[in-house]
Amino acid sequence: DRKIRIAPSILSADFANFGAEIRAIEDQGADWVHVDVMDGHFVPNLTFGPPAVKAFRPHVTTVMDVHLMIAPVDPYIDAYAEAGADVLTAHVEAGQHTHRTLQAIRAAGMKAGVALNPGTPAEAVEHLLDLADLVCVMTVNPGFGGQKFIDMTTKIQRLCQMIGDRPVLIEIDGGVDTQTAPLVTAAGADVLVAGSAVFRGGSVDAPEVYGNNMRAI
Ligand code: DX5
Ligand code: ZN
Repeated sequence: DRKIRIAPSILSADFANFGAEIRAIEDQGADWVHVDVMDGHFVPNLTFGPPAVKAFRPHVTTVMDVHLMIAPVDPYIDAYAEAGADVLTAHVEAGQHTHRTLQAIRAAGMKAGVALNPGTPAEAVEHLLDLADLVCVMTVNPGFGGQKFIDMTTKIQRLCQMIGDRPVLIEIDGGVDTQTAPLVTAAGADVLVAGSAVFRGGSVDAPEVYGNNMRAI
């Protein structure tokens, strides 16, 4: 009896009104709030850093899910803990020592996530699963909202097998909407990130897709 969570990404929100935007998605049933941190180096786009994330914190009453698209990660872990991240996700491609990074994220009191770019195989995280609370499967090349969904069904299925009965959530990020959500939930996804579908389309309401916990967003 699997709970599917929806995590709207505020990357597609009004940047001048984050507080109101976060309240709106929570009012409409968001389970988590997904925060995309980009450094203009690991990905070709730049968003916000620890002071902004700290300012979002009081508006988030659910779970603040911070996705770091930055390299290096380690020097910033404590700053994101202080900013109030509940889940902190680092890319496996962001450095040589993801094992150490995940340990450090947990040691700082957060849940640890590891993200995989579309070109990275599931096996890249095989030996990290005891240190991770979440694996984020990118279904776009990270950097921008509103891109076309890339089918990663076989990777999601592989990860499900590798995870077995460990308490590791599979999160899908990129191009998730009412068309693609059923594909990824059937493959084994637990957490669905959705940016443009929520903020521009205004609706990813499909209770049959998201499960009983979902209300229309
Ligand atoms: C992409 C980000 C995503 C993005 C998803 O680099 O990690 O979280 O906001 O946006 P959509 O749902 O529009 O693909
Ligand atoms: Zn993201």
